[in-house]
Amino acid sequence: VIDIRKLYAQAGVFTYDPGFTSTASCDSTITYIDGDKGQLLHRGYPIDQLAGQSCFLEVCYLLLYGELPSKQEMEEFQHVVTNHTMIHEQMHNFFRGFRRDAHPMALMTGVVGAMSAFYHDSTDIHDQNQREVASIRLIAKMPTIAAMAYKYSVGQPFVYPRNDLDFASNFLHMCFSVPAEPYKVNPTLAKAMDRIFTLHADHEQNASTSTVRLASSSGANPFACIAAGIACLWGPAHGGANQAALEMLRQIGTPDRIPEFIARAKDKNDPFRLMGFGHRVYKNFDPRAKVMKESADEVLDLLGVENNPTLQVAKELEKIAVEDEYFAERKLYPNVDFYSGIILDAMGFPTSMFTPIFAVARTVGWVSQWKEQLADPQLKIGRPRQLYLGETERNYVPLDQR
Ligand code: ACO
Repeated sequence: VIDIRKLYAQAGVFTYDPGFTSTASCDSTITYIDGDKGQLLHRGYPIDQLAGQSCFLEVCYLLLYGELPSKQEMEEFQHVVTNHTMIHEQMHNFFRGFRRDAHPMALMTGVVGAMSAFYHDSTDIHDQNQREVASIRLIAKMPTIAAMAYKYSVGQPFVYPRNDLDFASNFLHMCFSVPAEPYKVNPTLAKAMDRIFTLHADHEQNASTSTVRLASSSGANPFACIAAGIACLWGPAHGGANQAALEMLRQIGTPDRIPEFIARAKDKNDPFRLMGFGHRVYKNFDPRAKVMKESADEVLDLLGVENNPTLQVAKELEKIAVEDEYFAERKLYPNVDFYSGIILDAMGFPTSMFTPIFAVARTVGWVSQWKEQLADPQLKIGRPRQLYLGETERNYVPLDQR
């Protein structure tokens, strides 16, 4: 019997790294994370400064082009993005083909994938201009698509984007306006929405971004690549965690039930995990979670629900968990998704919209990384190897002899 592991060992350098815990798949100049320090930088700028002083569209520009824009560059960028927010009218019919009770992430995956059928004039990845147009189309249209997915799920008419509103306010308008009553955007809520987008904009080679890069490495068109990223983001270990975290907090219900859930999270025979806790890279506080927690306080104060039971459970759970030996030993801290759901819930979004909102924000990260990858002269198709542990060669036995 041939020992396959020995064979591989003899074959030269071959790394086996399940989950890619220590393998870099690319080089990049976009985002830097120091997981031990709890540091996140976009093009060198700390995330807390960007979330506190910048706005999502400016961060989009920074991620896409590498530098903060001048006043004129910012105005031009804002103008271009704003003028691409409408989607092809025919896409309304495409939406109507879905079941109303479908998860909005299912709609997002399908609709964004189908954009290559509606915008085939921006699918040629070898044409610099088409790449640029595709990037802007994706960033600008994603909020419209997410809002339409929401409207479709609640049986309300689609709401067209408004060019006089900023990115976050326009998204709130498209989600919450109804023909009889246009939504009055509250500036505090718009700021909180903008922060949620900013905090989720990019996060180096996470699962969905790596998926986008892998899909793109075959030469796939940009809409197909981003649809692949959306599909990956949906999983509860990744973008789906914000929905799962709020559902978990609601399930816990009251602070006195927290020990029961902590015990379950520690029990290796129970698949339950504390959702919104832990991160592959951060082995310290997720810097995004700190900003998100402040935002949650601001929003709930504004809405007069400072005694929100879910927020109380979240704060108490965080306190108990970070002091618990199990979580401390494994360096498990709240991540960005722990508090975002509380804000979105207070704003009136159903839990099913949490991950689509994450997708709206992450689109710029996916697109920036996709552009960076295509500009790389060393670009190769992504083709991981495997450690084969199956049968060695054997002869086929015809059916009547088995
Ligand atoms: N609750 C309880 N235990 C946990 C948790 C958790 N949330 N997360 C990790 N652990 C434990 C594991 O059981 C494991 O314990 P062991 O060493 O005794 O076996 C140890 O901590 C290491 O966990 P891994 O799964 O190996 O860590 P990995 O880096 O692969 O996973 C992940 C990271 C997926 C984020 C994980 O912490 C998790 O499932 N968290 C909950 C889901 C979540 O919040 N995801 C959002 C991530 S952030 C984002 O996508 C924006």
